Amino acid sequence: MSNGKVVLAYSGGLDTSVCVRYLQMLNKLDVITVTVDCGQEDDFKEIEKKSKAMGAVKHVYIDAREEFARDYVAPSIKANGLYQNKYPLATALARPLIAAKAVEIANNEGATSIAHGCTGKGNDQIRFDVTMHALNPKLKIIAPIRDMNLSRDVELKFAKEQNIPISAEAKKYSIDLNLWGRAVEGGNIEDADSEPPEEAFQFINFKNDKTGYIEIEFEEGVPVASDGRRMSLISLLQYVNNKAGEHGVGIVDHIEDRVVGIKSREVYEAPAAVTIIEAHRDLEKMVLTKHELAFKRIVDEQWSWLVYSGLWQDPLRIALDKFIDATQSRVSGKVRLRMQKGSLRVVGRKSEYSLYKSDLATYAAGSTFDQKQAKGFVELWGLQSIIANSMAANATSDKKQKGVTNDIKS
Ligand code: ARG
Repeated sequence: MSNGKVVLAYSGGLDTSVCVRYLQMLNKLDVITVTVDCGQEDDFKEIEKKSKAMGAVKHVYIDAREEFARDYVAPSIKANGLYQNKYPLATALARPLIAAKAVEIANNEGATSIAHGCTGKGNDQIRFDVTMHALNPKLKIIAPIRDMNLSRDVELKFAKEQNIPISAEAKKYSIDLNLWGRAVEGGNIEDADSEPPEEAFQFINFKNDKTGYIEIEFEEGVPVASDGRRMSLISLLQYVNNKAGEHGVGIVDHIEDRVVGIKSREVYEAPAAVTIIEAHRDLEKMVLTKHELAFKRIVDEQWSWLVYSGLWQDPLRIALDKFIDATQSRVSGKVRLRMQKGSLRVVGRKSEYSLYKSDLATYAAGSTFDQKQAKGFVELWGLQSIIANSMAANATSDKKQKGVTNDIKS
């Protein structure tokens, strides 16, 4: 006897595998598992087998890599998307897409409930819940791990009892990987004062101390070629990820403020994201006016905050995207970066829209900049600061003359 169908966003990992069982046992629901491929490089055949072995009535695999790159990663590149100026938002970007796909399947299958494996302590629950209800408010959301307040240790024990196979890696860390980066949580990483071990990383080569160069070409804010070769965004992300990772670039280790108020020590490995955003920001400085740059910094920060906080569906995010898009029509050109043992530095850039004019900037003879014009400008520029200072100086000398002191008792 079943209470109907539930669609579960299923990664095949510990949390979501445990969920299949709980949804069957406690909610008496027929479970349809949906695995959305955002570039996590898993064995999707194995995941399907696992789902079937646990008695899911149906399994759906969706290759969403292209959509993820085009509609989520590309806007984030244009927005220089970094939460708290550090985290490239890989997980935060994938969640609304996974949620949207799960809702689509739930609608197609006539499911009454939708489920995810998030805990009640993180941001992912917000990203899933908000997107799911924004797209179909009628679906009942079930989050077994959160609802039962389960810890990872209890889950591991339950998985063992239920003969649910768990990878050795999952026993050590909680990992989330997609085309835009990798998040490593749990285990020894939770000690904010200890350096993450090299084994926690997948793309970083710690042994290579050679210097390397990489060139990234942008068209309207989006990377289209690297090292002179045009490629699809997916291939480009993989190419840059491997090359930058080979030179140790892309580790982010910081203290992050989660939406629910918890401060957490987060470790990310995102060679492509770190390199591409560095290059994109640099190119923007060359082609946008200082006024555009100053305002866009605020927009970028707000955009990153919205996406981090699970509000991908908010009209504000969509409106900010329109502003950002309008600024990107001139963000075309090439940026060259130098990499060595984890350091990354832009060493050259060029663009047909460059506002950098060497004949204006040069200190050599032949500059077209008329220095004589600067004198009047500087006088007006500093006008109020100069007046304010002389007022302050007058006030102090007045006090001295009248013998006023600050000592009230005397
Ligand atoms: N702190 C990051 C975020 O909120 C990473 C979360 C990683 N999620 C995970 N299930 N391991 O986006």
